[in-house]
Amino acid sequence: MGSKLIGCGSATPSLTISNDDLSKVVETSDEWIATRTGIRSRRVLSGDETLGGLSVQAAQRALEMAQVRPEDVDLVLLCTSTPDDLFGGAGRVLAEVGCTNAYGFDITAACSGFIVGLITATHHIKGGAGIQNVLVIGADALSQYVDWTDRGTCILFGDAAGAVLVQACSPDEDGLLGFCIQSDGDGQKHLHCSGSNAKSSLSKTNGVPSFPPKKGTFSCIEMNGKEVFRFAVRCVPQSIEKALEEAGLPASSIDWLLLHQANQRIIDAAATRLSIPSEKVISNLANYGNTSAASIPLALDEAVRDGKVKTGDIIAASGFGAGLTWGSAIVKW
Ligand code: ACO
Repeated sequence: MGSKLIGCGSATPSLTISNDDLSKVVETSDEWIATRTGIRSRRVLSGDETLGGLSVQAAQRALEMAQVRPEDVDLVLLCTSTPDDLFGGAGRVLAEVGCTNAYGFDITAACSGFIVGLITATHHIKGGAGIQNVLVIGADALSQYVDWTDRGTCILFGDAAGAVLVQACSPDEDGLLGFCIQSDGDGQKHLHCSGSNAKSSLSKTNGVPSFPPKKGTFSCIEMNGKEVFRFAVRCVPQSIEKALEEAGLPASSIDWLLLHQANQRIIDAAATRLSIPSEKVISNLANYGNTSAASIPLALDEAVRDGKVKTGDIIAASGFGAGLTWGSAIVKW
């Protein structure tokens, strides 16, 4: 049994925040942000837009391209760290898309979420339970957790959703060729958005329970940018090399390098280490910033619809971020 990608789609919020806009609220400049990160603007949720709404749009576009009916989807994976509902957003999304015969669940692995989703989809299809069609959605709205007074982080993030349809196929058509996924829990201190409920808990005094004053809130994103940068430049090329090894392919077979869109300097450094020329590197973070789990399917969707990525092209995709987690997938489009 093989599995392959047969459709993609994406959706972004309507409100654009440019670097110049940000320079009106924190001490920064378009020049500083563009030089250090490559980002020029980002989209953020506004009005009644929701993460679920973006996810539904992205999923519908992927199904349309794949020419698969919602009722033929067996599994919906919503890869997100920022669901509309703490218990998971996949259920609402699959209901709104009309995937009446599917089950679904969320996957939380920050900016590696979409790669984890691809691996999970493949394992479900190859697991022999008769699963044919899996919608993998990468969606995040980190704007909800950004400290908009912290110039070290607020310049980086944007909101978006992207989706792909993974379908079962014969082994000779296999399009998901090699994977690598890793974690380093000790590195969590470098990038986190901690929950207050991790710190306060129920206690008893003289047999009477006393409850924590406030429950279920999260702090803003805290990041040691330099450490995360170093981690990404070190781990991403190694991870792609491992996935290539599993796929039995040399680096020279890569048609497109598609990294999590966090920082243009990270993308360029990884490309240099893998000896991949800049014309084979997909990048759209100038317009969207770091959209976490959405960034890989969002950039893939643009590249496919622009006619850059063509049928049969080999894509080396890699996600990395909070956890710390990182992972790569070698995919034939
Ligand atoms: N505008 C102007 N100056 C700034 C800004 C800003 N927005 N932010 C920081 N500075 C200043 C700092 O205060 C510092 O000033 P000082 O030298 O007087 O102390 C100086 O610029 C340099 O700051 P650094 O933090 O050292 O800047 P650096 O070159 O490391 O760039 C950045 C910061 C862009 C955040 C970079 O470290 C980075 O991109 N790291 C990776 C982050 C990332 O990719 N995260 C991905 C995972 S996200 C996820 O998984 C959810």
